[in-house]
Amino acid sequence: MIRAEAYAKVNFGLRVGRLREDGFHSVAGIFQSVHIVDRLTLDSADRDSIATSDGRPVADEMRNLAFRAADAVRSFAGSSRPVAVTLDKAIPAAAGLGGGSADAAAGLAMAGRFFGVEPAALTGMAPQLGSDVPFCLAGGTARVSGRGEKVERLDALSGFALAVVVPPLEIATPAAFRMWDRLDEPEGMRMPQSALPPGLRAEGELINDLYPAAVRIVPQLDDWRADLEQVWGRPVMLSGSGPSLYGFFVDADEAVGAADAIPAGARFAEAADLSVVGWRITNHE
Ligand code: C5P
Repeated sequence: MIRAEAYAKVNFGLRVGRLREDGFHSVAGIFQSVHIVDRLTLDSADRDSIATSDGRPVADEMRNLAFRAADAVRSFAGSSRPVAVTLDKAIPAAAGLGGGSADAAAGLAMAGRFFGVEPAALTGMAPQLGSDVPFCLAGGTARVSGRGEKVERLDALSGFALAVVVPPLEIATPAAFRMWDRLDEPEGMRMPQSALPPGLRAEGELINDLYPAAVRIVPQLDDWRADLEQVWGRPVMLSGSGPSLYGFFVDADEAVGAADAIPAGARFAEAADLSVVGWRITNHE
C-alpha cells in the first residue's frame, strides 16, 4: 500500500486575462502550498474503488480527481490492474484551496510509484486533470501562468504564516470565470505592498481579479472579508475563485490566535504554515 499527503494551495494574487478559444482564461500569480492536508492511499484490489479509509463513499466516485489521476497513470502504463484508493479530506471543497487538484497530484504520484511511471510523464498528464494540478504536482512556491500549466518553481518563502478562513459559501470555479466575463473584466481586489510579508514585497501589490465575480455570486463574501479585516486589523485577500480568505501573520502562534478569533459560522478557520511540497509519499514499503 502507498500512502500520501496532499497539500492545499493558496494564491498570492491571481491576474486573469481574456477568455481564450479553448474555453480557459490565461492566469498569472504566485501559488503557495500550505499545510492543510488530505490523506490518501492506493493499493491493489479485486476491483476499482474509491472511499474514505473507514469505507464511507466519496461523492461522485468515478469523477473523483484522485481516482481519475490513478486511472490516467494506469492507462499510460498499459495496465488494467484494479486499484483501491482511499481519501480522507481535510481541505474544504469548492473553496479556492485546490483540494481536488491536490488529490489529483497525490493520485498521480502514488500511481506513478505503483505502476512504475516516470515523474516527467506524470507532469505531462497533470493539465488534463485540471488547471491547478500542474502546480500541485510541483508544489512549494511557484510562479504560475498559461492556464495554469506553466509552473516556475521559486525559492521557498519564509518568515510568515497564514490564517485561512472559508465562509459558509460555495463558489464553483467555472462560475467565477463566467461571471468575470459577464462583468467585462472588472477591477480586481488589491492588497498593498506595505501589507505584505517582506519575502513577498518584491512582487509589488497582490491583485486577485476574480474577487468582484466571486462577490457577485455570493455577496455575503464581502461582509466576511470586511468583518475579518476588522477582527484581524489588516487587509484580507481572496484565494483563487474563493470563497477562502486569508491574512498574513508574523508566525504560526499569531496565525493560530487569528484563526481562533474569527466570527462564528465559518466552514473552516485554521492557521496554515507554508509547505515546500504539494504532496508527499509518507511510507516506503
Ligand atoms: O481546469 P479546471 O477543470 O480546474 O477548470 C474548471 C473551469 O474553470 C474551466 O472549465 C474553465 O471554465 C474555468 N477556468 C478558466 N481558466 C483557467 C482555469 C479554469 O476559465 N485558467
